[in-house]
Amino acid sequence: MVSPSSLLIRQARILLPSGEFLQGDVLIAGGTIREISPSIADAQASQIIDATGLTLLPGVIDPQVHFREPGLEHKEDLATASRACARGGVTSFLEMPNTRPLTTTQAALDDKLARAAQKSLVNYGFFIGATAEILPDLLTAHPTCGIKVFMGSMHGALLLDQEDVLDKIFSQGDRLIAVHAEDQARIAQRRQQFAGNLDPAIHSIIQDNQAALNATQLALKLSTKYQRRLHILHMSTAEEAELLRQDKPNWVTAEVTPQHLLLNTSAYEKIGSFAKMNPPLRSPHDQEVLWQALLDGVIDFIATDHAPHTLAEKGQAEEVPISTPSEISSADTVFLEPANVPSGMPGVETALPLMLTQAMQGKCTVAQVANWMSANVAKAYKISNKGAIAVGYDADLVLVDLNHYHEVLRSELQTKCGWSPFEGWNLTGWPVVTMVNGQIAFERGQFFDHVRGKPLQFG
Ligand code: DOR
Repeated sequence: MVSPSSLLIRQARILLPSGEFLQGDVLIAGGTIREISPSIADAQASQIIDATGLTLLPGVIDPQVHFREPGLEHKEDLATASRACARGGVTSFLEMPNTRPLTTTQAALDDKLARAAQKSLVNYGFFIGATAEILPDLLTAHPTCGIKVFMGSMHGALLLDQEDVLDKIFSQGDRLIAVHAEDQARIAQRRQQFAGNLDPAIHSIIQDNQAALNATQLALKLSTKYQRRLHILHMSTAEEAELLRQDKPNWVTAEVTPQHLLLNTSAYEKIGSFAKMNPPLRSPHDQEVLWQALLDGVIDFIATDHAPHTLAEKGQAEEVPISTPSEISSADTVFLEPANVPSGMPGVETALPLMLTQAMQGKCTVAQVANWMSANVAKAYKISNKGAIAVGYDADLVLVDLNHYHEVLRSELQTKCGWSPFEGWNLTGWPVVTMVNGQIAFERGQFFDHVRGKPLQFG
């Protein structure tokens, strides 16, 4: 019998969990994958997608985003962010607690879940934030992907830079702790040392490699003391990668962002304040070591750290899209002191094509990209039935076109902030169709705004 919501994807190049490709069909019904085979009869489905020439990958699970709702909706909200996800092939996201109010209680978590249920085109999960006053909800809040700890480069109640407080957090409970690892004391001291320096590149010098290494070492020490599940967010330096290569306990995972792999400190000259993020962009040597660590499995997966700020906040002119990075000039830029520019850049729309372009250019394989952006994330956060194309799995899928190149254009971006540090980059592997639980959320430039994702469950 044909189920009314059944969908047949015809003649795709399907990435199987083994890393091999199968030229064939995928039948989806009731939101899950029912059959994968070289040929499935059309009569079994109520809707057919012709995927000739396209590659079918598991939908991306982005494990670190800042979607700004509630409280900072002038930068982004769950509707605009999840549209950007759908366009970028991101079918699930894990969102951070530095919204307003901070996500530090069950009530704040429930509020985010309710908002996402109303607005999000894709599946969602939220971190709970740790504060120095260890609130009881930190240990009991549900559902959550884990505890977020800002060890540095964050002000307000989420900043946890005292070892005794961190020790308490690591000692209590057993849920995953995800750390933003930067040494706040070192950053504060270097901010004073370099005060008045107006070069945007000073950001990477103030929040230097040593600041990141100090905090990662401390997090590893505490995690080892309690054998506590630790995840190191957006690892950015060669030193941290080497440290982990020497000794990576099996309860530790790490991630890297596409921007730390693909941009370096030379970006400040080309795109100015758009290049400012935390942890900062690093040297070409750091990039190389991070790539190798990712290829060798020392770094487990990729996150975008999508962290939009408005053009005005970044001190950038509205009317001047960067069609090529070199076109940005000081005349287009309202000069803000580097210290006053917020850190962060958007990423969910560009991450998959950026990484697939790397694959097509020989840096890695398409199967590795899918492992780094889907399967390994599902495994680390114990999200069952997602991250692979297999019978019985949720039909969170993305059909990408690996045969054509297309530039990152400001006019096509869905993120509310309206810019990308990768504008003008010519990329392949753009999503053509994005499916969330078997429903088409995005197809060839069109959004199906009635689609709603579901809350993710963790382990
Ligand atoms: O650059 C960043 N911006 N890094 C973070 O970890 C936070 C983020 C933000 O929320 O703006």
